[in-house]
Amino acid sequence: MDGRKVLDAARMVNLDRCPIEDLDSADGAAFARAARGRFRKDGICMLPGFIRPETLEILAEEANACVGDAWFCRGTHNVYLAESSPDVPTGDVATRYERTFVGSVPYDRIGEHSSLRRLYEWDPLKELIRVVLAKPQLHRFADPLGACSVNVFVDGGEHGWHFDESEFSVTLMVQAPESGGAFEYVPRIRGRADEKSIVAAVLDGNRRHVRELPFTAGALLIFGGRETLHRVTRVSGTMPRLVPVLAYAERPGLENSDEVRMLFWGRTGKPTA
Ligand SMILES: [Fe+2]
Repeated sequence: MDGRKVLDAARMVNLDRCPIEDLDSADGAAFARAARGRFRKDGICMLPGFIRPETLEILAEEANACVGDAWFCRGTHNVYLAESSPDVPTGDVATRYERTFVGSVPYDRIGEHSSLRRLYEWDPLKELIRVVLAKPQLHRFADPLGACSVNVFVDGGEHGWHFDESEFSVTLMVQAPESGGAFEYVPRIRGRADEKSIVAAVLDGNRRHVRELPFTAGALLIFGGRETLHRVTRVSGTMPRLVPVLAYAERPGLENSDEVRMLFWGRTGKPTA
């Protein structure tokens, strides 16, 4: 990121619209309460215009500059991201496979002094997310590769229907592709008695339960992906869809397993002997 303009986090966020610097203030508390209410209702809270337009340009420039460091994984999976057991009856949704082709730039390839890192390391953002998720405490993830990464969807990139393994995720909508790359979701169906019939209908192309979230550049998205079925539709064109992922944990010092790091970044992030 050398030579690029880097901003202080407090100047990156549109604090007039999203007054998160002090959540004990009247404005801050009201804003956080409303955001929490949206998350509780739908398992998703999008804050459009969270990032100022001039910051967005810088974040997009930074993200584009590190696309070459993305590790791509391509494969198939069921909606539960788990091997289906041999006891699962034929025709069960767990036996149906979706395609995914996505890249990720790891944390150690994102400039140490980049604007994205400054934003990630800014405590008021962490505090907002803690309040929206109603967690007693929240910590930045300690993973050397997965703490803050950038998801990259190039031409042909897509993420098939699935439920996340992690309870929640936080992403920033930085750069929309020329076409495709829609975020679609079916809110809070995990564990419902009719979960499998809804999943089957969605996989069959039934749109009745499906909602689409517009890609609104500059928005912050706090999302409970374990309960909500979701996907990113296939991207086309030369402009990649770029979405930084900001990871947090309820306990300090948490990291991904080596298996997860190998899958998403092709290495463990540990020094080789
Ligand atoms: Fe996901």
